[in-house]
Amino acid sequence: MSDTTAAQTPYLEYGRLIHAWRNEVKHTFAMVAKTTGIAEARLRSLEKGEAKPEWRELELLAKYFYVSVRDLLPFDNDLERGIKIMRHKDACKFDQDRAGRTQYTYWNRCMSQALPNFKPVELLLHLHRREDVVMNRGHFFHQYTQVLHGGPVAYLWEFGGKVHEEIFTEGDSWLIPGFVPHAFYSPEPKNLGRILAITFGQNIGSDTRQELSLLGPDNAARIVQDDKEYYHK
Ligand SMILES: [Fe+2]
Repeated sequence: MSDTTAAQTPYLEYGRLIHAWRNEVKHTFAMVAKTTGIAEARLRSLEKGEAKPEWRELELLAKYFYVSVRDLLPFDNDLERGIKIMRHKDACKFDQDRAGRTQYTYWNRCMSQALPNFKPVELLLHLHRREDVVMNRGHFFHQYTQVLHGGPVAYLWEFGGKVHEEIFTEGDSWLIPGFVPHAFYSPEPKNLGRILAITFGQNIGSDTRQELSLLGPDNAARIVQDDKEYYHK
């Protein structure tokens, strides 16, 4: 595509998706216009990529094509020169208070829209008494953790109905699958621990989550374990 064409059709990625789904049902512009109420000229312009569809138009078109609005959204690629960079000075930094105490300071590290299932954060662990630590309930993503600095770092996690504790030092790393409740603290107040925690998804991406929510939580559990007969005897 020449630069001039690209300038005239900045939303071509949206247009291509609308065109593809319209082709799939083999409907004319006039047919789509009649049912959705979006003017034929506007539809042509959207398919050419001259204009950006509004959210209301995407909803109308998704309904018309029997797809999700997500199926009409182009892939967001935020890479530049093929990579994504996050400078320390630009990192989003915030404190998290639990039960009235600052438990962690977080720095969001490099993330990309192109790799949505990869979420690295750095944590500074403020607490130094185990009894002050508030554990989380675990999260969907699995987690890789590594001690970056200081320590010892105390790691608490729940398994088999009890809380376990392990002490780690600089360079140590460990992995947990999703939904394991956990927390961290710095046993030595003068040597606060810093860790890198990378949460990541493996095979259950957005499409699978959508399909699981269609099945519902009770039926989804049957995928993992279903001991009963297929029909009532
Ligand atoms: Fe975590």
